[in-house]
Amino acid sequence: MKFELQHNDTKTNARAGLITTDHGVIETPIFMPVGTQGTVKGVHMTELKEDIDAQIILGNTYHLYLRPGLEILEKAGGLHKFNTWDRPILTDSGGFQVFSLSDNRKLHEEGAEFRSHIDGSKHLFTPEKVMDIQRIIGADIIMAFDECCPGDADYDYAKKSLGLTERWLDRCFDRFNTTEPKYGYQQCLFPIVQGCVYPDLRRHAAENVARKGADGNAIGGLAVGEPTEKMYEMIEVVNEILPKDKPRYLMGVGTPINLLEAIERGVDMFDCIMPTRNGRNGQLFTRFGTINIRNKKWEDDFSPIDSDGNSYVDTLYSKAYLHHLVKVNELLGLQIASIHNLAFYLWLVKEARRHIIAGDFSTWKSGMVQQLNNRL
Ligand code: GUN
Repeated sequence: MKFELQHNDTKTNARAGLITTDHGVIETPIFMPVGTQGTVKGVHMTELKEDIDAQIILGNTYHLYLRPGLEILEKAGGLHKFNTWDRPILTDSGGFQVFSLSDNRKLHEEGAEFRSHIDGSKHLFTPEKVMDIQRIIGADIIMAFDECCPGDADYDYAKKSLGLTERWLDRCFDRFNTTEPKYGYQQCLFPIVQGCVYPDLRRHAAENVARKGADGNAIGGLAVGEPTEKMYEMIEVVNEILPKDKPRYLMGVGTPINLLEAIERGVDMFDCIMPTRNGRNGQLFTRFGTINIRNKKWEDDFSPIDSDGNSYVDTLYSKAYLHHLVKVNELLGLQIASIHNLAFYLWLVKEARRHIIAGDFSTWKSGMVQQLNNRL
């Protein structure tokens, strides 16, 4: 994997770059739609590619390991072959999902023991196992196995947790460096900076991660219950230390405003379930603010969903029709809302990139943040 920095904003830490993988090029800043189970919920690959113009999608080790399981994934020739997505894929390591989804999880030095949320079966994820699973899934970018510390953890807990994440990180690299990709294309491993809301822990974590010399670096443990200002402060602390010539990935974040604030602070990659999950609940993001399409005021509004939107669904369907579909829980309603929101997120990061290159990111961002705050 190669990262080329194309442009540094002069007024802020925003950057525009290009990541080159064996499955194609990613223009940064980029948003990665989440495809937990090997599919971005309700969205066809052709829509993802041709309409939304997603450049990379996410998969989840935890879910894919439980179902369809490693035997099927290996037989298929990896996730790209299985789901037909031939652009880059990143897989999360399961560190986050084991803690948020599974039952009866127990942390040991060796790894995380948990029971499947599906059938209660018992499993152990170790750093080595998680590297092996991600080799089998065949993602272009794989993530280190970490403990995502809750946003309200006290200092002692956060420090101990970071120690474990750092020892697990060494084991991840040992395994990764002594195993080969299975399907003939390159894979790279991103370490994750933890450290909760404590600047000294974050600095220590970022220095440790930077020493690994990885192809890219991630910031985890944010947007997990801490105040938003703390999140921005931690991004600043960490990005002062993480190498400038490698992409920086902020995990699981966030709202459109969060993305712009993080881009301004030097983040290059994002993923979040918000555009799809909130879309399924009727929340639409637009450049003029958010719409709750379930609201009665849209019942007889026959104007396009978003006349300035970038997806074909935006002008094909009316707000009144989408209101109806969402109210009666039709699958198509969930699909339209997901496609609209993903197209919006991809538009937003593309615009950010365009303005970074044009040299007016700061002014554009301030205006956009004001608009995004509106409730329509
Ligand atoms: N997704 C969102 N936050 C995190 C995190 O801290 N760690 C991992 N592995 N995934 C995440």
